Amino acid sequence: MMSDFTSGFWSTYIVVFTVLAVIFCFLLLTIMGGGDKKSPDETTHVWDGDLTERNNPLPNWWRGLFVGLLVFTIGYLIYYPGLGSFPGIGNWSSVGQFEEEMKDLDAQTKPLYDRYLMMSVQQVAADSEAIGMAERLFLNNCAQCHGSDAKGSVGFPNLRSGAWSWGGTPEAIRESIAEGRTGLMTPLDGILSESATTQVIAYVRSFSGLEHDAAAAAAGQPLFVENCSACHGEYGRGVPEVGGPDLTDNVWVFGSSERAIRESVVNGRNMDLTEGTQAMPAHKELLSQGKVHLLTAYVWGLTNR
Ligand code: HEC
Ligand code: HEC
Repeated sequence: MMSDFTSGFWSTYIVVFTVLAVIFCFLLLTIMGGGDKKSPDETTHVWDGDLTERNNPLPNWWRGLFVGLLVFTIGYLIYYPGLGSFPGIGNWSSVGQFEEEMKDLDAQTKPLYDRYLMMSVQQVAADSEAIGMAERLFLNNCAQCHGSDAKGSVGFPNLRSGAWSWGGTPEAIRESIAEGRTGLMTPLDGILSESATTQVIAYVRSFSGLEHDAAAAAAGQPLFVENCSACHGEYGRGVPEVGGPDLTDNVWVFGSSERAIRESVVNGRNMDLTEGTQAMPAHKELLSQGKVHLLTAYVWGLTNR
C-alpha cells in the first residue's frame, strides 16, 4: 500500500504519539481507578456545609469499559492501519474494500449487461429500463465534458445536434466511445496571409448564411479547396474519417463568430495535446463492453428515437 506521508518523520511522530497516549490512558486507569471504597465519613471538600465531595473509586463495570476500550484500541491498531504508515496485519485499505465491493457489484450486474449485449443498439435504445441505466452511466462518465443534457459546450460536441464529426451510425458512435477521438486541425498561421485568412473565413460563414462579405467569400473559395478540403471536404460537408466537421450545417463546436473561426484557422485545434492524451478519451479500459454498448444506444437514441 502506498503511504500518504511525504517523509518518515510524520509516520514516526504519529506512532510515538499514539503509543504514548495508550500507555498514558492505561497508567491513568491503574493509578486513579483502583483502591477501595472509602468510608462515608472520608470527604475531601465540603461546600456550603452540606455539599460534600467524596473520594470513591470508579465502579468496576465502568473501569471494565475503559479496559475493554484500551484492549480494543490495541487490537485495532495491530489489525488495521492507524500507526503511521504501518498497514496493519489485516492489510485492510479503503481502496481495497472499494475494489472488492465494485467487483461484487460487477458480478451481480454482469448477467444484466450480458442480456443487453445480445440486443441490438436499436433494441436497447427502445428499452426504457436499459436507457435509465445508460443515462446514469452517461451522467457519471460523460456529463463532465458533454453536459448532463448531452448538449456539450465550447470545445465539446453537442450529441443532440444530429451533426456528427465522426459519424452517427451505432458503429461509429461505439468507436468514438471505446477508442476515443482526436480531430487534429493543423494551424494555417504562416501558410495563409492575413487577407487570405479573412477571405477563407468569409467563405466558411457563407456556407450557413452567416453575415459575410460576398467578394471576400468568392476570393476565399479556391483558398478553401486548396487548404481545407482534405479534412472538411470540397464543399465543406465534412470528412468523418479524420473527424473534420461539416462546416455547412450551422452546428458549431467552437462557435460561429468570426473570432472563433479565426482561432480554429490560425492556431488549429487539438495541436496542444500532449502525447498519449486524446480530446475524447478512450473508454474501453474504463468501462466494460456492456456499459459501452448501453452508452452507444443512449447516444444513438438521442437523435434516432
Ligand atoms: C474529457 C472530456 C470528454 C469525456 C469524459 C467524454 N467526451 Fe466525448 N468527446 C469529447 C471531445 C473533446 C470530443 C470531440 C473530439 C474531436 O472531434 O476531436 C468528443 C467526441 C465524442 C463523440 C463523437 C461526436 C461526433 O461528432 O462524432 C461521441 C459520440 C462522444 N464524444 C461520446 C461520449 C460519451 C458517450 C462519453 C462517456 C462515456 C464521452 N463522450 C466522454 C470529450 C469528452
Ligand atoms: C488536417 C485536417 C484539417 C485541415 C487541413 C483543416 N481543418 Fe478545420 N478542423 C479539422 C478538425 C479535425 C476539426 C475539429 C476539431 C475538434 O472538434 O476538436 C476542425 C475544426 C474546424 C473548425 C471549427 C468548427 C466548429 O464546429 O466550431 C473550423 C471553423 C475549421 N476547422 C475551419 C477550417 C478551415 C477554414 C480550414 C482551411 C483554411 C481548415 N479548417 C483546415 C481538421 C482540419
